[in-house]
Amino acid sequence: MTGLLFRSAGDVVSRLRRQRGLTDNELAKKADLRVGTLRDIETGVPPTDNQIEKLGESLNVSPDAIQLVAGEFPEELHSELLDNPDRALTVLENAFDTEPASSEEDVSLPDPVFTTDQGKLYNADCREILPQLEEESFDLIFADPPFNLNKDYGEKNGDDLAEDEYLRWSTEWIDQAIDLLKPGGAFFLYNLPSWNTHFAHYISRRLNLRHWITVDIKFGLPIPNRLYPSHYSLLYFVKGDSPKTFDPDRLPIDTCPHCGGEQNDYGGYKSKMNPKGVSLTDVWDDIPPVRHNKYLNRDANQLSLKLLHRVIGMASEEGDRVLDPFGGAGTTYAAAEIMGREWVGAELHDCSPIIERFEDLAEDKKHVAEIEEVVNLLFTEDALEKRMKYKDEFNFNFDDYDLSESIGGSVQQHLGSYEE
Ligand SMILES: C[S@@+](CC[C@H](N)C(=O)[O-])C[C@H]1O[C@@H](n2cnc3c(N)ncnc32)[C@H](O)[C@@H]1O
Repeated sequence: MTGLLFRSAGDVVSRLRRQRGLTDNELAKKADLRVGTLRDIETGVPPTDNQIEKLGESLNVSPDAIQLVAGEFPEELHSELLDNPDRALTVLENAFDTEPASSEEDVSLPDPVFTTDQGKLYNADCREILPQLEEESFDLIFADPPFNLNKDYGEKNGDDLAEDEYLRWSTEWIDQAIDLLKPGGAFFLYNLPSWNTHFAHYISRRLNLRHWITVDIKFGLPIPNRLYPSHYSLLYFVKGDSPKTFDPDRLPIDTCPHCGGEQNDYGGYKSKMNPKGVSLTDVWDDIPPVRHNKYLNRDANQLSLKLLHRVIGMASEEGDRVLDPFGGAGTTYAAAEIMGREWVGAELHDCSPIIERFEDLAEDKKHVAEIEEVVNLLFTEDALEKRMKYKDEFNFNFDDYDLSESIGGSVQQHLGSYEE
């Protein structure tokens, strides 16, 4: 078997670091690098000469050896190799004096770092895990990869190269992930709109784009001479012509937070409105930023449980299999676990936030219960209470709507109690 075992010097560094039982923080400290820089390198951003020197020293490996294993030969060896290719091969084979590892050994999955009855988490580069999973075995794939934002790429590489590298890295895991999707399965990719313009085009070669969903969340700071960036893009693809599962939640009528009055008149057909609420649109402006969670250790990187609850509920059923290649704080896995789905995940760096989160899912379960209380009904309890309070002042009429789904089906009784 031939081929590159590793795709970049960063892959080699990542493997050596884990072989030596070092966390990324520990290695970054030893090598006097910022942990973010090390993570970028491990994710495929080419290291500078100086960075590879420091990493080699900290891992007790010569920098040239790291480059060699990654398939990059030191420049001074190029002509020797070209002149004596057979000799180079013999030297390498003799140096190890063993049979090359069998392909089966190369492709075995590592032990998961954490499991539940429903899920498995691997502490590894997802590009090592995805090719080992069974093809067409997942109903839903959700991915929230690093966005390649505001990074210091080192002196050697300009922004253009960094962009190329990021796109190359992305298309590699994307292709692997698409292989794993069942026919009719759903693939969601969360990223900055500027990256998703590339990916929407790329992924459309193999999957059908159902929606470009705008997730309205303020992030970052205002940029001089630009509009204030205020949304992410969530691409929603399906394998084949139609989705296996499409069951989006309906949302309550948008009401005034003070009086409970309608913000829109929805065409004026109040009595004809679906008692389960209004249809979900492709602009999601009700996703809160994550701030309350004790597992929030990657500030902006952790997604809201509400987003994952919506995606998983819309595009999978109980018992279905969900894959998320980029663990982070494990929001997808927590949502999948609570919603009765099987899940598989990978996280290249520290998995302890995910494992600790699973030690006590009570907070996430409570959050999911709260989310589920306010979907698939026309009015939330809070809105109804306010409407009752202001019914005379604003002439609110409760008979206009079919409220049978609101407040657990006991609306009339509930309304009666306000009237007493
Ligand atoms: C944006 S965060 C994901 C956050 C997650 N969706 C959540 O809500 O908790 C991306 C994660 O991917 C991890 N990562 C980066 N490259 C990776 C790779 N090649 N394989 C697996 N995980 C990777 C990063 O360490 C980071 O934790």
